[in-house]
Amino acid sequence: MCGIVGYIGSRNTTEIIIKGLQRLEYRGYDSAGISVFDGENLSLVKCKGKVKELKNLLNSSPVNGNIGMGHTRWATHGEPNDANAHPHMSSSGLFTLIHNGIIENYYSIRKFLTGKGIEFVSDTDTEVLVQFIEYLYLKNNLSFAEAVRSALQKVVGAYGIVVLCKDEPDKLIAARHGSPLVLGIGEGEYFLASDTSPIIEYTRKIVYLDENEMTIIKSDSYEVRNIEEYKVISKEIQNIDYDLEQIEKGGYEHFMLKEIYEQPTSVYESTRGRIDLKKMTVKLGGIENWLTRILDANQIVITACGTSWHAAQIGSYIIEELVNITVKVEYASEFRYRETPIDNNTVVFAISQSGETADTLAAIRKARTMGALSVGIVNVVGSSIARETDCGVYIHAGPEIGVASTKAFTSQVTVLTEIALLLAQKKKLNCKMVKDIIRDFSTITEKIEKVFKQADKIKNIAKDFATSNNFLYLGRGYQFPVALEGALKLKEISYIHAEGYPAAEMKHGPIALIDENMPVLFIVTQRGFDKIMSNIQEVNARGGRIIIITSVDTKRCDEYSDHVIKIPAIHHCISPILTTIPTQLLAYYIAVERGCNVDQPRNLAKSVTVE
Ligand code: G6P
Repeated sequence: MCGIVGYIGSRNTTEIIIKGLQRLEYRGYDSAGISVFDGENLSLVKCKGKVKELKNLLNSSPVNGNIGMGHTRWATHGEPNDANAHPHMSSSGLFTLIHNGIIENYYSIRKFLTGKGIEFVSDTDTEVLVQFIEYLYLKNNLSFAEAVRSALQKVVGAYGIVVLCKDEPDKLIAARHGSPLVLGIGEGEYFLASDTSPIIEYTRKIVYLDENEMTIIKSDSYEVRNIEEYKVISKEIQNIDYDLEQIEKGGYEHFMLKEIYEQPTSVYESTRGRIDLKKMTVKLGGIENWLTRILDANQIVITACGTSWHAAQIGSYIIEELVNITVKVEYASEFRYRETPIDNNTVVFAISQSGETADTLAAIRKARTMGALSVGIVNVVGSSIARETDCGVYIHAGPEIGVASTKAFTSQVTVLTEIALLLAQKKKLNCKMVKDIIRDFSTITEKIEKVFKQADKIKNIAKDFATSNNFLYLGRGYQFPVALEGALKLKEISYIHAEGYPAAEMKHGPIALIDENMPVLFIVTQRGFDKIMSNIQEVNARGGRIIIITSVDTKRCDEYSDHVIKIPAIHHCISPILTTIPTQLLAYYIAVERGCNVDQPRNLAKSVTVE
């Protein structure tokens, strides 16, 4: 949520910042802006709209310098307009600042500063922070770093910030409390960003800022200190572990489509070195040392948001079926504030593609303070959740840029299955089923490729349904969470209202909506086949338009539906990996048909770092 880039060095600062913002645009795209020290002043250019608009503006009024920062915004306080765009400048023009997060006590600070005669030009909490820094700087005769630190000690809320000061124009200062920041270390140059994607082109060496740390960066050195005590902290330099081409479109029209088609590889990567097909065993290095505690747990809680929450649902089905242990699935935003029995016999799994979702991070912090073991199932290596959990398993799906999550979902389900398989093997439970699933995993790549053979058909179906206003997705058992995920995908990128429901629950409400204008998508596998066929007939009898995704080779589906999408059969526990893919393609092609911006859907952000 909100993209941040900073640069100090001898290259073309504006170019680096703009390129970086384009890579980060998936985090927010309401407005964008840049501030550069041009040798005399802090110049500021910003506007409502995408980075493209900012680029046009910079073509007509260029800014240059050796130090600067840029921001792409996802609005929290104040509508997306030019004035509310970041960076924000203090009244006397001494400071500019960019911010990701929310300053919760902004109102009282603003009131205080207004009382001192300071005038505000935006509605944002961020402007309050930059004005406050300038106020403290002037009033208490502080240095740049002292003023930033002093202000941060008084604000409540979450922030990842970068600040420039006209009086000390050789420095960039950045600080983190709740919103991620990464420092890239080059030769005589440094980069700052909300994630590594803007940095990878220039250097692979990075330092992750931890909570309550600030960094003071000059062109030839940097230091990291904790905000509270101001002690210098020695930080480990790490390496970025992916390639530039992984974050580029590689000939696809959209990142989402590229990521859908990457699934044979991403699912395979999630199993590589973990599932041994010869020995029929599973090994997960990241949780090996904690296995006894996991096996002895009274309950497992899986917490997540959005698509990751849907993967959690599937995970709960597999773990309960194979391992016979109670699994609760919790929305992180609810779990963090709910009274629920958690103790040191509980294991809390946190699932997150980004590893930065604020609610999920808060949920594991809560779980840890209550004594639970926390396990991260995360895609982004080195992200906050990966670092703050006791142990974990990376899903290794590779960078996911499209705002609508696709390949991360199937990799999350894959890793959850591996965890279930491992625990079942250790407990010596369901031995035959464990072997059957492992055997079927060996066919998954080729079966995903077979699902792609349906793409043209799905594209044609999309044309038929592109003008629909509503959609119902129905499934039973393992296909119920797939229905939820399919409906979410459609509403996220095409803005068609869609709901996922357990097929049998349809009779308790959604059936009232069914008429000849209501498309209903059923996900049908062998398990519960006859039951779901009854539900299909119920919709058919009421004139609903039916699409069926099925792995069952039968004419019965054709009889009662307008369209059938046939996919290969696989073990029911891992069937969601296959059944989800047609729903991703359908959402994609409907959105394209409707002319929607697939990779940057309205109001959404890839990584939600505010609660
Ligand atoms: C946002 C994204 C979703 C994602 C959710 C959870 O809403 O748009 O695609 O599923 O956050 O994100 P996480 O990174 O924690 O999986």
